[in-house]
Amino acid sequence: MLPQALKMTGRSAFPLLRCADRWPDVIASAASRQVKTLEQMPGPSAPGFIWDLLFRRGLSRLHQLQLEGRRRYGPMWKASFGPILTVHVAEPELIEQVLRQEGQHPMRSDLSSWKDYRKLRGEGYGLLTAEGEEWQSVRSLLGKHMLRPKAVEAYDGTLNAVVTDLIQKLKLRSQQSSSGLVTDISAEFYRFGLEGISSVLFESRIGCLDPVVPVETERFIQSINTMFVMTLLTMAMPQWLHRLLPKPWDTFCRCWDYMFQFAKGHIDQRLEEERQKMARGERLEGRYLTYFLSQAGVPLKSVYSNVTELLLAGVDTISSTLSWSLYELSRHPEIQTALRDEVRCVMKGRSVPEARDVAAMPLMKAVMKEILRLYPVIPANARVITDRDITIGGYLIPRNTLITLCHYATSRDPRQFSDPDAFVPQRWLSRSEGSHPYASVPFGVGKRSCVGRRIAELEVYLALAQILMHFNVEPTEESAPVRPMTRTLLVPERQINLRFIER
Ligand code: HEM
Repeated sequence: MLPQALKMTGRSAFPLLRCADRWPDVIASAASRQVKTLEQMPGPSAPGFIWDLLFRRGLSRLHQLQLEGRRRYGPMWKASFGPILTVHVAEPELIEQVLRQEGQHPMRSDLSSWKDYRKLRGEGYGLLTAEGEEWQSVRSLLGKHMLRPKAVEAYDGTLNAVVTDLIQKLKLRSQQSSSGLVTDISAEFYRFGLEGISSVLFESRIGCLDPVVPVETERFIQSINTMFVMTLLTMAMPQWLHRLLPKPWDTFCRCWDYMFQFAKGHIDQRLEEERQKMARGERLEGRYLTYFLSQAGVPLKSVYSNVTELLLAGVDTISSTLSWSLYELSRHPEIQTALRDEVRCVMKGRSVPEARDVAAMPLMKAVMKEILRLYPVIPANARVITDRDITIGGYLIPRNTLITLCHYATSRDPRQFSDPDAFVPQRWLSRSEGSHPYASVPFGVGKRSCVGRRIAELEVYLALAQILMHFNVEPTEESAPVRPMTRTLLVPERQINLRFIER
């Protein structure tokens, strides 16, 4: 702002020296002349945007609309999403500016239908939905067990047991076809994701990878899927419309009802086992998250909501990342071979990798970064700054405005990444690319960033390492590429089918 103030107040710096004591006023008045208001911000008309959403499949193309928005309006634009006015930010520098001003207790979105459901049913809030002090206290507790490298390494045995079952399942399925074909790999990875996060939460298995999958598991996964489809729709509909068009809201609530019921069933069962152990005078020494929460005195209502939200956060995220990883590796056999060589070299004849092995696998890390750059599971994140107005990119953004951070647009920006639509993990191995540090931030940044990041990374690394040691993964003859679509999260728009050839 200072150089602009200097430019505006005079051609020579001399008069400025005389009024140096008035600099703050000078800067403020220059700033007030420079700063634009939301009214001046470009963006589609409300009817135009609704038209795109409802009649041009906009809800499933929200990631594409980010690219179109940036092309048409520049790095910032506004759009009305039902009753909500949102400011879109699609430039890494500006995203950084927003996140650096997010304050003590960052808020993702104040207007979520997820919160409305909890209010309606009297359920508690978990890390995804809680705010303020309530969020902070659970975040500090879970952060200790989920983000510290040593704490996360301790889950490798638990997760490897789940990976071993996944490999068996993939073998079984690939043997059922003469060409090793496994259809709809995401469905398999949904079950893997749910089993993985359950084992971390309950330190016990729930049978998602058994030959016959329990019906409750399928229903839970289906509820997550439908709930995500309904999320954007229920957010876009003003509450009065729920009475006229009740189906989306009712379906949304039924999904959440089942998800809470599923989580409560598992938590109650696990806590009952602990009570019985205690009654028998046995020592309690759990290494699972539900145990840590209940032992720290977190109220049961909050344990229920936190576990429900962690369960749901661990399913699509893992499934989507693994599905895209294998999709791209099958289409880039030279990278698949290089990655397999890296894994085998580090493993030195052992068959099951450990968490500490990953430190010596730079290509593995680069593959995951590249997959999340191309297919960020959360294509757009959000922030609401509640305590003050802020200035971003020359615009004054009033407090409580919903700010959408367009991560998909920045991670596919050719000014940030050369050949941005291509799968090139090597770009992360050299620093030559020089992209902005906020150009690809798939787990978010700062205090409110993904608390499951370390567990997710470990789970994906362990699964990919073992899959590549057991199989060559090949594409099928289908020539049409699979594209991503938005369902709140970014997921494959249709089934991914691959061939798993046993090695
Ligand atoms: C590849 C996998 C994953 C990706 C890309 C991912 C990405 C994200 C992102 C972008 C956020 C929002 C961050 C922000 O607002 O700044 C988030 C939040 C969160 N994630 Fe993940 N996530 C993944 C896996 C997981 C897993 C496996 C879990 C559970 C173990 C999890 C639990 C959470 C929770 C609870 C939050 C809310 C954190 C808070 O508000 O304090 N995530 N994640």
